[in-house]
Amino acid sequence: MEKFQSMEYGPAPEDASGVMQWLDAHGRWFGHYIDGAFTKSSAAKFESKNPATGELLASIAQGEAADVDRAVKAARAALPAWQALTGHQRARYLYAFARQVQKHARKLAVLETLDNGKSIRETRDIDIPLVARHFYYHAGWAQLLGDVTDNGYTGDTDLKGYAPVGVVGQIIPWNFPLLMFAWKVAPALATGNTVVIKPAEFTPLTAMLFAEIADEIGLPKGVLNVVNGDGATGAAIVGHPDVDKIAFTGSTEVGRIIRKATANTTKKLSLELGGKSPFIVFDDADLDSAVEGLVDGIWFNQGQVCCAGSRLLVQESVAERLYDKIRARMETLRIGSPLDKAIDIGAIVDQVQHDRITKLVAMGVAEGATCWQPEIAVPTKGLFFKPTLLTNVHPSSTVAQEEIFGPVLAAMTFRTPAEAVELANNTAYGLAACVWSENVNVALDVAAQMKAGVVWVNATNVFDAAVGFGGYRESGYGREGGVEGLYEYLEPAWVKSEPKMFASIDEKQVLRSAQDDNSGVDDHIEGALGIDRTVKNYINGKQARPDSGYSYAVHDRNGKVVGEAPVGSRKDIRNAVEAARAASAKWGKTTAHGRAQILYYLAENLLPRRGEIVAHLADFVGPEQAAVEFDATIERIFSYAAWTDKYEGTVHNPPFRMVSVAMKEAIGTVGILAPDDAPLLGLMSLILPAIAMGNAVIAVPSERCATLMSDLYQALDTSDVPAGVVNLVAGKASELGKTLAEHDDVDAVWCFRDETASSMVKLGSIGNLKQTWTNEGRVIDWFDPARGEGRWFLRHATQVKNIWVPYGE
Ligand code: NAI
Repeated sequence: MEKFQSMEYGPAPEDASGVMQWLDAHGRWFGHYIDGAFTKSSAAKFESKNPATGELLASIAQGEAADVDRAVKAARAALPAWQALTGHQRARYLYAFARQVQKHARKLAVLETLDNGKSIRETRDIDIPLVARHFYYHAGWAQLLGDVTDNGYTGDTDLKGYAPVGVVGQIIPWNFPLLMFAWKVAPALATGNTVVIKPAEFTPLTAMLFAEIADEIGLPKGVLNVVNGDGATGAAIVGHPDVDKIAFTGSTEVGRIIRKATANTTKKLSLELGGKSPFIVFDDADLDSAVEGLVDGIWFNQGQVCCAGSRLLVQESVAERLYDKIRARMETLRIGSPLDKAIDIGAIVDQVQHDRITKLVAMGVAEGATCWQPEIAVPTKGLFFKPTLLTNVHPSSTVAQEEIFGPVLAAMTFRTPAEAVELANNTAYGLAACVWSENVNVALDVAAQMKAGVVWVNATNVFDAAVGFGGYRESGYGREGGVEGLYEYLEPAWVKSEPKMFASIDEKQVLRSAQDDNSGVDDHIEGALGIDRTVKNYINGKQARPDSGYSYAVHDRNGKVVGEAPVGSRKDIRNAVEAARAASAKWGKTTAHGRAQILYYLAENLLPRRGEIVAHLADFVGPEQAAVEFDATIERIFSYAAWTDKYEGTVHNPPFRMVSVAMKEAIGTVGILAPDDAPLLGLMSLILPAIAMGNAVIAVPSERCATLMSDLYQALDTSDVPAGVVNLVAGKASELGKTLAEHDDVDAVWCFRDETASSMVKLGSIGNLKQTWTNEGRVIDWFDPARGEGRWFLRHATQVKNIWVPYGE
């Protein structure tokens, strides 16, 4: 009777004794898992505590550079045998992982809860099932990709011809310790790579249990290596010269450090960083569902979720009503021992994070926000933080812009859908967004305008292995999950064996001047006589004199001056970027069919000028190559006109009452540094996929052949390519490339020049974490359509946005 009257829950604690025994059996002291063996070699240790009680769970080794080196060597040594297995054999290992995770589900869930402080309800029902699902899903990919040969995977998938990158270094955070581990390890192993992974220092325990599972299933030694430690250990992995790729999830700050640390290397990089994701509620939304969504959006995992719906944007007319409902629901949230099965909100992972949340909330209040917390019981001991609602938040205030990473919701209002979109995108991040409306037109219209890698319609924080996850803008690049996530661990099989640029300089007829920064561009010509061609830059659909007022002499392959090209400067690049930014919004919305028409028209307008263009090109590459190159360029234009409406999105089928529409969206503005060999075909092979997919470009043509530009802009003018979609700025590639790479309004830079230029571009990209794509100084055979065009290019010209929509029963 008493219970019925109060409706209070009794305690329902999960039994942790099995896990405690496991910890005791290990002497509460964990080292690393390297080359199939558990080691306790490292002297330095740190402590892993239960944040709900402060109890010491275990001591952990701090991995030294020597440990990382041993792990990388083991991973390298294991690579050939791992890749020699058939796809089916690899699939069996991934499948075995999935099965063992299911068998050990309870132990893993309890250990995760103890180590991280998240509720057992979540580890049991979300984290661990998703870990198993991830291995099942990727077992499927291992099977379908097939064997790894010199020509790449043999299986009949879109990834045929791709090959694994090699040894992968992975660094993960503490908010979903085992789930992030699975997100990293499953695709890497399924694609035939070997792994060195570092768990977060706060939460290393489930990774150690997982390493035991690797032993149990007989995973070949060295295929998976786990090195424990903090940021210094992470930095040692990042800095190890024999690692081919780094995959990182964590703070944007560390993401930048890693981008910088890898800029001078050929390591591939994917970054999954922070977010400040909008949770948009329209006046016609089912408000009660939206409130439940918020519980999952911001109070799930104590708000320590990179894609947490931490910014509530609510239509003004329903704001007060929604706030009332939210407050009422917050009063019913239960906060307490994470091992209690009836608890909603567990403990914050560490004192550092608790302090940070406390500080940010105080800052929000100081900035004018109203802070509200429910009158609910909170344990007096342990790191607990009450669910918190901040209203009257100004969109530019700290709590609206900075990731709090705690159970704190910052609420703002809007009046129109346009204002909602503007507020939602008013952030440097772009990880996720969700839209609540019963009107399908409003919901999908807003979803299309979100600058975010994941958009949930009438749902939030739903994840699945089949659906890519990852950000736009400063939330990073690369995807995890789905076919889109596999690309992070692959490269076309032929790429690695291509010669380095300038190594075969004579054969390729690449001019000497292109190698170094002191090329012809320094030969300023002011009004030189007897030169027949003087070209200008091409910005916003117009020929534009260079801001410097200088031109430089362009020589033919025999050293004779054939014309003058402008010496472009920072100012010209800035103008071109401005034009590209303005043009990109409209061009991105032009239909694929419309873009195809314009590309066909471009080919049509170039064709009648074949004789003249071939003659110009012949100055640089000789008549024979010139004719072939022109014809190949026309064919390439046709190819990309064809691709515009054929490089399509996918529909993923997660095991829920939803589908996820994986749209391939334009990135925005793309800076291009074109190669010197095949000066026309190389340049166009980069411009075309970018514009075919709806981007606007700022291209720096080959420095030594820049007079060729004029042949292009005449054709662009007459082909209805909208002003600003293609901008051409000539000059020193090194200087212009740096400006492009550092420009905050450039969304991606592609560099197909030498290694120095590749590093410079990566280094310059740190500011806004723009995507970079470089050939790492390798020569690309532009004449071979299997290498110089197609999906490899189109993939870099797009980013995948997954829009989850309710579907079916
Ligand atoms: P963090 O970015 O410092 O740590 C993430 C991982 O990176 C850990 O394994 C850490 O040991 C490692 N690491 C740190 N410095 C490194 C370096 N120089 N080189 C290589 N690896 C390094 O994140 P932290 O300090 O744990 O949390 C700080 C804030 O970051 C949080 O308040 C939150 O805002 C954000 N964060 C975002 C996450 C996300 O999923 N987007 C996850 C964790 C944190």
